Amino acid sequence: MRYPLKEADKIWAEAVYQKIEAKLSAECGRVGSKIPYIAKDGVYQEDKGITDIVWWTNGFWPGMLWQMYHATGEEQYRQTAEAVEERLDKALDTYTGLHHDVGFMWLHSAVANYRITGNERSKARGLHAAHLLAGRYNPRGRFIRSWNRDRAGWVIVDSMMNIQLLFWARDVLQDPRFAFVAEDHADTLMKYTVRRDGSCNHIIVLDPQSGELLETPGGQGYGSGSSWSRGQSWAIYGYALAYRHTGREEYLDTAKRVAHYFMAQTDRTGGIPLVDFRAPKEPVYWDTTSGMCAACGLLEIAEHVPESEKEFYLDGAIKLLRAVEEKYCCWDPEKDSIVAMGSGSYATEHDRHVPIIYGDYYLVEAILRLVDKDILLW
Ligand code: GLY
Repeated sequence: MRYPLKEADKIWAEAVYQKIEAKLSAECGRVGSKIPYIAKDGVYQEDKGITDIVWWTNGFWPGMLWQMYHATGEEQYRQTAEAVEERLDKALDTYTGLHHDVGFMWLHSAVANYRITGNERSKARGLHAAHLLAGRYNPRGRFIRSWNRDRAGWVIVDSMMNIQLLFWARDVLQDPRFAFVAEDHADTLMKYTVRRDGSCNHIIVLDPQSGELLETPGGQGYGSGSSWSRGQSWAIYGYALAYRHTGREEYLDTAKRVAHYFMAQTDRTGGIPLVDFRAPKEPVYWDTTSGMCAACGLLEIAEHVPESEKEFYLDGAIKLLRAVEEKYCCWDPEKDSIVAMGSGSYATEHDRHVPIIYGDYYLVEAILRLVDKDILLW
């Protein structure tokens, strides 16, 4: 059995799914092809399609819509997701400003469309994005550069979610080059980003000529050497998926090691992650989004471990999901966004303790997994 749920958890997951359906059906009609990011007072005011077409989160709204279309067959989800996908063409056409997050952006828009409907134009968009990502590969350092400008050797752990686009391109084109690039990248990060205790650096700076590790700046966490919780989530889910796509045991072991660390840390705070597990005790900053992404990672791990181990990861995921559902979910269909209390980074105030679109995406994906109505978009 994919997820051997306890009866009480099954009933709970089914009830949450019903709430998601009511909420997103209304939200889809209201938000339409706007590209939402952070809701303020229950309203998605900003349209990233206008303010920042290359913003890394622009795929999560269509991703949620494709998940719901797959689960329900309701046409409004498909039509709205397709409209967003077309808007994203402006980013592909402009090119300037695009970064390694083309994975997040097009896996959940064009590639999702292709997976579900077989649309050839969407397949071309996905392959275009995959070539852009592969083009960022540095063969001396064996990594994909993350950002632009003067940051040729900068790599962030978030990239572990983007490389899934390359495994998709490998499969579609029957061309192993894409997987070679993705695996080299995952191997380099495994060496320099994931620490022995299962915590992770957010950023590593490598010498772009030689690949030598130069420094590990703090990034979105508290500081260098700290432990930004969403970074650990990206590693859990990213390495679990890399295992799915390659069968390489060291990736699953890495995902499990980071997962064990994450579960131990969030046990101390009732299943709600701090923004950074190694920040000073005060002030206390939370990030629900990191718990939602980690939950999907734990569910992914549960699919690849022996029967006797499944419950451990499944229970871990449910603990994170239930904690957020009990305290921080808004189910009013008249209001935009579900998961409150997300934080973009430790240092920034404007996106602290707010509902962020990816918190909703990962909640929806996790619940759909539990009720067996999901589609793997990674
Ligand atoms: N990829 C950036 C973040 O997780 O905030």
